[in-house]
Amino acid sequence: MRRILVTSALPYANGPIHLGHMLEYIQTDIWVRFQQARGNECHYVCADDAHGTAIMLRAQKMGVTPEEQIAAVQEAHEKDFSDFMIKFDNYGSTHSEENREISSYIYNQLKANGHIATRGIKQLFDPEKEMFLADRYVKGECPKCGTADQYGDNCESCGATYNAAELKNPKSVMSGATPVEKESEHYFFKLPEFQEFLKTWTRSGTLQDEVANKLAEWLDSGLQEWDISRDAPYFGFEIPDAPGKYFYVWLDAPIGYMASFKQLCDRTDGLEFDDFWKAGADQGNEATEVYHFIGKDIINFHALFWPSMLHSAGFRTPNAVWAHGYVTVNGAKMSKSRGTFIKARTYLDNLQPEYLRYYYAAKLNNRVDDFDLNLDDFAQRVNSDLIGKVINIASRCAGFVKKAGGELCELGDTQLLDHFIDKGNVIAQHYEDREFGKAIREIVSLADTANEYIHEKEPWALAKQEGKEQEVLEICSLGINLFRQIMTYLSPVVPDMAEKVCAFLNIDDLNWDSRLQILQNHKINKFKPLMARIEKDKLDNIIAQEKADAEKESANSDDNNSSANTLSEPLADEIDFDVFAQTDLRIAKIVKADYVEGAGKLLQLTLDIGEGKTRNVFSGIKSAYKPEDLTGKLTVMVANLKPRKMKFGVSEGMVLAAGPGGKEIYLLEPHDGAQPGQRVM
Ligand code: MSP
Ligand code: ZN
Repeated sequence: MRRILVTSALPYANGPIHLGHMLEYIQTDIWVRFQQARGNECHYVCADDAHGTAIMLRAQKMGVTPEEQIAAVQEAHEKDFSDFMIKFDNYGSTHSEENREISSYIYNQLKANGHIATRGIKQLFDPEKEMFLADRYVKGECPKCGTADQYGDNCESCGATYNAAELKNPKSVMSGATPVEKESEHYFFKLPEFQEFLKTWTRSGTLQDEVANKLAEWLDSGLQEWDISRDAPYFGFEIPDAPGKYFYVWLDAPIGYMASFKQLCDRTDGLEFDDFWKAGADQGNEATEVYHFIGKDIINFHALFWPSMLHSAGFRTPNAVWAHGYVTVNGAKMSKSRGTFIKARTYLDNLQPEYLRYYYAAKLNNRVDDFDLNLDDFAQRVNSDLIGKVINIASRCAGFVKKAGGELCELGDTQLLDHFIDKGNVIAQHYEDREFGKAIREIVSLADTANEYIHEKEPWALAKQEGKEQEVLEICSLGINLFRQIMTYLSPVVPDMAEKVCAFLNIDDLNWDSRLQILQNHKINKFKPLMARIEKDKLDNIIAQEKADAEKESANSDDNNSSANTLSEPLADEIDFDVFAQTDLRIAKIVKADYVEGAGKLLQLTLDIGEGKTRNVFSGIKSAYKPEDLTGKLTVMVANLKPRKMKFGVSEGMVLAAGPGGKEIYLLEPHDGAQPGQRVM
């Protein structure tokens, strides 16, 4: 029996789980369930990745503490995972005492071994928010081509890469303030000292070939020291003996694997942390195995920094790090506006989790290729394979067995069954190699064979003939046994269906070994439908729901933008109330609006504020409004502004509008019920 520890990457606690994430958790869960079905000891742990600037800012925006914020997200994550039948043995958080302890321990080891350097670096600093700004929190004009509104690391227009400090007219995304350069002390992990270790480690069967080749290029061109500290304010762990300095989120994130496993050990008799993590735990007779499943975007954290840290701190390194590609939907990157950025919850509100588990399994291999979730293909494949082929075997046979008393008879010729049992070895090897697609192809081909057998024997025709009852029962008993083999092989993929099949077959489980016992002279239970077909309208629902969510979200973020993100114009100096009260604002009815001959920008408005006469106001809103759109509407005017003589006449006040100009001018309009002449305070 092997002793195995498996992890999936820790999802960030600042957003919902989507179907891209699910590829990884489903892939890992299938592998874990397979190992368990083979009789191996296999533990599966994960956690929320709860630290970092993004989470801190999100909490601020929601007006809650980061702790409250991450607790709420974690609850939703765990529900999504459990509804997708992802069977973690422990689900922790990187913001846990266990993680704080192990992170500090590892850091202290690195430091004692001389692998930590400190030096001052210059960075942009937001003087209003009083915080250092990561590249994506600075925007300005590209230093190369001058395009406005570019982030601090590269230009979307010309592709140039640069330092945030090189941006022209830089602005803090958070406050709109102009950032200043400021120096502060940072802590670095001396990665270059692990060059030789990594050259060996990455080539020792720990990585897929394509990944090892890619990393070899970097290893040859030289490594750089890794900045592992961030200045306050930051949501994370303070670095021991360095007040105001925090571990960068990626320093303690992978340590979260250990911390989550530690929690599992603490509540499980006989499970020892050291058996899996101490140096040398991967060697010898008692060797344990550790595997990380990850996405291709986080390879360097797992295949360069992580093994080096473990090595330096005196722990074992993982047996392997396995990367998968990125999910696309209908051939394109997942997109909120197209409705293909599908949240786990939206899927679950409409469809069974096992459909997706099956489709992902059917298309997965052990390489890093991207993965297309084609929704038509998805429905077609699930309906035809799972329902049309696999379940069909049982539903064709069950009725005849029931009619004959509900007991499977002794099988005569077991040649076909032996072939099915034999195939278990090939299929197991495919699962072991994470070639799930190949495993599924074998399984579906067995289903085809079983259906052909039943089709040839035509039990339904025999059943109509006198004296053929035993023959019918034999055919169907074999059919049910074939179905049982197929379900054994499918059980890591469709655990809920497997459970229902156990109830139907009146057996305890579908372990790989128990399949060797033929079911004969064995009572089975009533067959109930195992799964319904995927209806197209459910898929349409999902897309429609996501589109609606995206619209809602963008409306909200527009609201927030003016307060949170795009405050492009600094606030004016503070004033006392009586200064404000000197401005007499009134609800005004636009009685008439006209073009002004010879004026490029102006409309002439005739306003009524209940004075028994109207007012004449010229307003520079022609680029955004047609006169006929304004007539009869209410707006707000400054009613005590000194009249101003203009080229076209006297303007007796002004109306209030927002926006940068051009098409984007937005006249203020009161809520329903306001009356002309009412004062606005
Ligand atoms: N928090 C880090 C991981 C820390 S592990 C010590 C992180 N989180 S994540 O939420 O962005 O992603 C979690 C996992 O989901 C990663 O392995 C990532 O590659 C994977 N995926 C996220 N989007 C994905 C797709 N669209 N397709 C496939 N996998 C995707 O990275
Ligand atoms: Zn540019």
